[in-house]
Formats: sequence, structure tokens, C-alpha cells
Amino acid sequence: MAKDRQYKIAVIGGDGTGPEVVREGLKVLEAVSKKFGFNYSLSMLDYGGERYLKTGKIISDKEISALKKFDAIYLGAIGHPDVKPGILETGLLLKLRFGLDQYINLRPVKLYNSQFCPLKDKKPEDIDFIVIRENSEGLYKGIGKFVNKGKKSEVATQISYNTRKGVERCIRYAFEYCRVRNKRKKLTLCGKTNVLTYAWDLWQRTFNEVKKEYPDVETDYAHVDATTMWFVKNPEWFDCIVTDNIFGDIITDLGAMIQGGMGIAAGGNINPEGVSMFEPIGGSAPKYTGKNVINPLAAICAVGMLLENVGQMKAADAIESAVIKIVQTSLKSLAAGKMGYTTQGIGDLVAKNL
Ligand code: IPM
Ligand code: MN
Repeated sequence: MAKDRQYKIAVIGGDGTGPEVVREGLKVLEAVSKKFGFNYSLSMLDYGGERYLKTGKIISDKEISALKKFDAIYLGAIGHPDVKPGILETGLLLKLRFGLDQYINLRPVKLYNSQFCPLKDKKPEDIDFIVIRENSEGLYKGIGKFVNKGKKSEVATQISYNTRKGVERCIRYAFEYCRVRNKRKKLTLCGKTNVLTYAWDLWQRTFNEVKKEYPDVETDYAHVDATTMWFVKNPEWFDCIVTDNIFGDIITDLGAMIQGGMGIAAGGNINPEGVSMFEPIGGSAPKYTGKNVINPLAAICAVGMLLENVGQMKAADAIESAVIKIVQTSLKSLAAGKMGYTTQGIGDLVAKNL
């Protein structure tokens, strides 16, 4: 990448504590850009609950299209206490993921300090895996209906929609990722072949076909219920996990807890051919809003993922190393209000340790 290249980053602080954690992420971005000598410009966008309550607008197709010209999107959190649950989540977050065809959700699960792990006797080397979640189909597709709504005979259906193309591109991405990650080179398919005999038949068949092209990658299969058990009992068995949208959603909250909590868990919504969006995976935490107590490390780690995605590997590594250092040596806890530092204090600390 040319030295005078300027990355165009769209920033959506969003709701609740989103803007506070994003502020710290941007503080770290500024510091790391100076250290490694790259340029960027920020476009601050006000999409979220406040704008919706004021104007009734969530995000238009035109606004989604305008995002395609950015190199990356940095998102804080979506979810406002005065807006009925579901409206912003589907109308904004899912619309962004789908509208920008971010068909992969990458969620690293990495323990930095065993003191912050709720599991007994697990060390950083035992918890170091990544979940590759399909991010555009499955139960999230929004296909379903009510029959006889409100009556005793009511039936509600919600379809898990899986296309060969959608499943294959996700599985292929996962094999490539696992190969390039080059750690244990093991990819586990996490599903439910014993009950969901249509959807998971397609997933399993596709997985078995694609794996022939990756003889260097060891493969495994685990049912989703068993996967949650292994996350607690033997997380060291995992390297890369590929799964569908809903299972990926569920297991990554558990993943976040075993790596130390929502305060440290970051994720990327990836369109390998387009613009990707990086976010802390936790919510907007309304009860902590404006108190300067929320942990910004997840948002800071999301900046690291963003920089890795645009090709600034050294800057991304520097952020991760600084986060590891302060998590191992400075913080009392990773939980809101218990860290021994304020939100801003942690941002400063990471910036100082780059
Ligand atoms: C997540 C969140 C979202 C999801 C919600 C807010 C729509 O839980 O990013 O994991 O279910 O994907
Ligand atoms: Mn979730």
C-alpha cells in the first residue's frame, strides 16, 4: 500500500456506551497511526436510536450504498432503551451486515490473563480459537410468518434459509482462514446434523467436499450443544470453528465469557470482496452509559481487527501487544466499574503502551 494512502473510515458510535468506547478506540487509532506512519480520515455518522427517535429514520438504502466507498466501518453499539427491542437490531445492525454483504462474522476468543477466566485452571494457551460465523443467512434471514395470529390456534414459523452458495463461501473462507492463521490448523464444523436434517445436511456435505481441497487442515465436527460443553471443559481442543448464523451468535457469547467477558470481545463483519465492519460484540449497556466505567478494550481490539483487515499488520499487532500487556499487568478486572481505571484511563493506557 502506498505510503500516502489514506484510509477512509466510517464511524458509527451508535447507542448507549457505544460512543464512549469508540472514542477510546479512535484515541488508540490516532496514536498507532502516528507510530506506524499511516493516514486516515474519519466520517462520523449519527445512525442509531437517538436519530431514530428524533427523525423516525433508521438507515436508508442510499446511506447503506454510501458506506460502500469506505475502506472500513467502525461501529460502537446498537440498542436504545427507549426503542422497542428488534427495531434497531434488525433495521440497523442486520441491515448493515446484509446490505453490505458482510457474510462472515469473525470472532476471536483469546484469553489474555487466566485471572479473568471463569474456568478453573485454564491458561492463555488453552483458550485461543476463532469462530467463523455465517453472517448473512440461516435463521437471521427473516423468513417466516404467523398463521392465526392472536388466536389459540396460532402458528409462528421462522425458516432457517441456507443456500449452497452462502454455505460454501463461508466454509471456504473458514478453511482459508485456518490455513493462513497457521496455528493448530484444525477446523471444526459446529452444527446440529442429528436434528436439523435439511440445513445441516447441506452444511455437512459442503464441508466434506471443500475439505478435500485443504488436505493440510485437520477437520472435526461437533454438535452445537456439545460445543458449549467443550468450551467449558476443553476449550483447548479448538482452533477454528465454522458455524451458521444463530449457533455462531450463541456460542460466541459463551466464548466471550471464557476469554474474560464482553469487555474484551471484539468481532468483524467481513465482506472479503467489499467493505467490512468492526465492533465490540457486547451491547449498548444503557445502565453504564456516560459513567466512564465501561471497558473499552473490546472496541480497542476491534480497531486492531480493522487495521489487520486493511493491511496494517504491524499496527494491529502493536495494539494487541499493548492490550495483552495491560490486561496482564495493570487491570484489576475486565468488568465495567471494576477495572481499576476509567474508560478513558484504559484508552490512555493502551495508547501509552503501543
Ligand atoms: C451480535 C448481536 C446481534 C446478533 C443482535 C444485536 C442482532 O447479538 O452481534 O451477536 O444477534 O447478531
Ligand atoms: Mn450476539
